[in-house]
This record gives sequence, structure tokens and C-alpha cells, in this order.
Amino acid sequence: MSSEERKEKVRVLAICGSLKKTSATRKVVRIALEGARQAGADVGLADLAGYELAFCTGSKAVESKGRDFPRLREEIRSAQGLIVATPEYHGSFSGVLKNALDLHDIEDFQGKVIGLVATAGGRQGAHGALSGLRSVFRALKAFVLPHDASLADSYKAFAEDGSVLDLSLQTRLLDLGKEVARFASLHSGTRLYPDGFVVNEPVIDGSPERLFK
Ligand SMILES: Cc1cc2nc3c(=O)[nH]c(=O)nc-3n(C[C@H](O)[C@H](O)[C@H](O)COP(=O)(O)O)c2cc1C
Repeated sequence: MSSEERKEKVRVLAICGSLKKTSATRKVVRIALEGARQAGADVGLADLAGYELAFCTGSKAVESKGRDFPRLREEIRSAQGLIVATPEYHGSFSGVLKNALDLHDIEDFQGKVIGLVATAGGRQGAHGALSGLRSVFRALKAFVLPHDASLADSYKAFAEDGSVLDLSLQTRLLDLGKEVARFASLHSGTRLYPDGFVVNEPVIDGSPERLFK
């Protein structure tokens, strides 16, 4: 690893998997992203509403994946941590998010540290969406953090100014973003070389007792 790479600041990208104009998911993922920023990460939001993507046909040809696919892939590749957010749709996560993931290769996600956020209209929260995403990221060989955040009753969860009424959820979202930044930072010091050689260098200071706060 070069000294320039060692100095690189950890980058956390949030992906919002709702196309709705007044999206509850977009509101909550911004809070988690703020947590990552507070922890010292460079942050960015990939709002899928702003990307022209084709449906996945199984073709490897980049030209077949839609005008904005290369931009999305580059943003994902350049991040060490991801906050992936979705609405619960019929007991799982959104189709637009699944399609965006399907357009990518395993290598685009392998080894990334991921925090999950989801919103649901129902009282039970978005557990179907969250467990569906855990299963997908297992297949993509990513590291999903044990904590996630689920917003229930999304139609009555926000104040007029867009803030979340449940302050404990607000804290959980901020903490989730911080955790993604910290674990991504620790993990991005690790490079697996073809001969199996592993270098483990934390980019920011993190002792085990600080990792979850
Ligand atoms: C097609 C569709 C399916 C939905 N399915 C569920 C569901 O299974 N369970 C639930 O609690 N809410 C369900 N909802 C409600 C959404 O999860 C909820 O409104 C969510 O907060 C929307 O997020 P958004 O505003 O970011 O799009 C569904 C909404 C839509 C449009």
C-alpha cells in the first residue's frame, strides 16, 4: 500500500432505494449519513431517483446497463462503507434497489462494510426488507453490521420540518452512520493480495470499546 493510500479518508456512500418525491427513506438515510460525517468520513448520497438505469438483463455489457450506471458503479467502488436504505415493499425491499444491485458484479460490493436502514408504513417496521438485504449482501460477500434501523408507521413519523419524532430512532440512525464509518475505516486498511497476504492498518483510531459508540 502506498503512503498516499494510507492517508486516504474513509468514504461512506448512502444509497436511497426509493424513487418517491417525498421519500421517508431519503429523510432517514440522510440522518444516518450525518452520523458518518460526524465520525469523520467523506460522505455522499446516491439517490436512485437521480440515476437512469436499465433493467438487468444479465448482460455484462456496460452499455446495456443504462446511461448512469458507470457513475453509480464508480461511486460504489470508491466508498469503503455503504448505508443502504429502502422502503419495505410487500414484505421485502424495493425493486428499484434490487435492480440497481443486480446490475453490479460481486467485486463491486465484496468486502464493503454496510449499514442497513429501512422504512415501513406498518406498525411492525421494515424487518422483511432488512432481512432480505442481509441475504443479498451475504451473496455479495459484504460485511453487514449487526445493528440496523427500521422506521415504522412512516406516514406519521415526521414533524413538519422533516425531523424524526422518535428521538431514540434519531440517535440509532446517527449511531449506525458512525459505526459504518468506523468499521469501514478499520477494514479499509485491509488489502487481500492474490497470494493471500493481508495488511491490517486502521485508517482512523478505533479501540474495540469505541467502535459501537
Ligand atoms: C408497493 C408498496 C408496497 C408496500 N408494502 C409494505 C409492506 O409490506 N409493509 C409495510 O409496512 N409497508 C408497506 N408499504 C409502505 C411503505 O413501506 C412506506 O410507505 C415507506 O415508508 C415508503 O418509503 P418511501 O417514502 O421512502 O418511498 C408499501 C408501499 C408500497 C408503495
